[in-house]
Amino acid sequence: MNTLLRRIGDMAEKRAEAGITRRRPAWRPLDAVHVEHGGEALLVLAANNYLGLTHHPAVLEAARDAVAFGTGSGGARLTTGGNHLANALEAELADFKGTEAACLFNTGYMANVGVISALAEAGDVIFSDALNHASLIDGCRLSKAETVVYPHADATALARLLASTPVAGQRFIITDGVFSMDGDLAPLPDLVALAEQYEACLIVDDAHAVGVLGATGAGTAEYFGLKNAVPVTLGTLSKALASEGGYVAASRPVIEHVVNTARSFIFSTAFSPTTVAAARAALAVVRAEPQRVAELQRKGALLRKALRAGGLAVDEAPTPIIPVLVGEADAAAQFSKALLAEGVLASAIRPPTVPAGTSRLRLSVSAAHQEEELLRAAECIVNIGRRLGLTGGRGA
Ligand SMILES: Cc1ncc(COP(=O)(O)O)c(C=O)c1O
Repeated sequence: MNTLLRRIGDMAEKRAEAGITRRRPAWRPLDAVHVEHGGEALLVLAANNYLGLTHHPAVLEAARDAVAFGTGSGGARLTTGGNHLANALEAELADFKGTEAACLFNTGYMANVGVISALAEAGDVIFSDALNHASLIDGCRLSKAETVVYPHADATALARLLASTPVAGQRFIITDGVFSMDGDLAPLPDLVALAEQYEACLIVDDAHAVGVLGATGAGTAEYFGLKNAVPVTLGTLSKALASEGGYVAASRPVIEHVVNTARSFIFSTAFSPTTVAAARAALAVVRAEPQRVAELQRKGALLRKALRAGGLAVDEAPTPIIPVLVGEADAAAQFSKALLAEGVLASAIRPPTVPAGTSRLRLSVSAAHQEEELLRAAECIVNIGRRLGLTGGRGA
């Protein structure tokens, strides 16, 4: 035990020296885009609550009503934890994504590790984007397949690897649809073509794309006009859908296989009825009011434009995730702290979440933000960026 304590003590010291110690803040939510801290209201410019539906009256009401079914599910989904709400949400998600069926998990993380490890077997090869989310990486690690990492969003490099890698079994191509820390998109048309050429199973994680991309908010495939070309889509209820939980949408046989073999689905107590009811209500709002998606896209573009106009190196992308690259972890933490002093909450993202030397402020816009508060936040960010010597880059 003493050896262990010494070892973890050394590791804690190294983290502190590198400025990457993680903390668990205690914000008190006020509404979809504001929290209170130390008696002050802060503008949240870093959450994944893309459509602000966590506080939509219909979503709140659905969650309240579902408390009538109890606060917990009381069991795993395949035993006593299943309920009518979950089955209904699965059918609604499948309809939204244009697939035959869907299966819910307790979190997006669990969907990703469960689905990948259920589908990919020994002898298979997974081709995985270098910037895929940690849950996809962990899914690859849990599976018995070999994983080949291709350079980020580089379809040419992927084509070379597909051509040169011997595969005894099935090929998989796995990618985020929208990359969570960079806000850019997977080159989906190229990936669909390569998957067809090599008979690979294409798996897209649409966690940051549902409610965000496409005319109806159906995600990356809709954005590219390829709605029926992705056989397996992963997703989460925790971002635009204002709740928590994950899902996979796919053909009936794939979903049947997942239900029967995905360990993170089988061996865990199911989500509560309130969680499901909130997500169902949020999905209903997205489907009934697609103008919210357009509003989000417009506000995302507004913040990008204001930051670029201020001289910050911000790339063009049709998403509300806007990274402001800072470089070193300490400087990113300093940026975030200075912004907090101005009443704006945007977390510093540091290693190991992003590669060393690419620490950043990850901004994310919500449809619930007021344009004026986005413009005021942009002004603060630009001013702090100027003090830190970050302006005048490629986006300017
Ligand atoms: C791309 C991506 N996939 C999966 C997840 C995991 O989803 P959840 O938070 O529901 O576990 C996240 C973020 O949390 C994500 O950014």
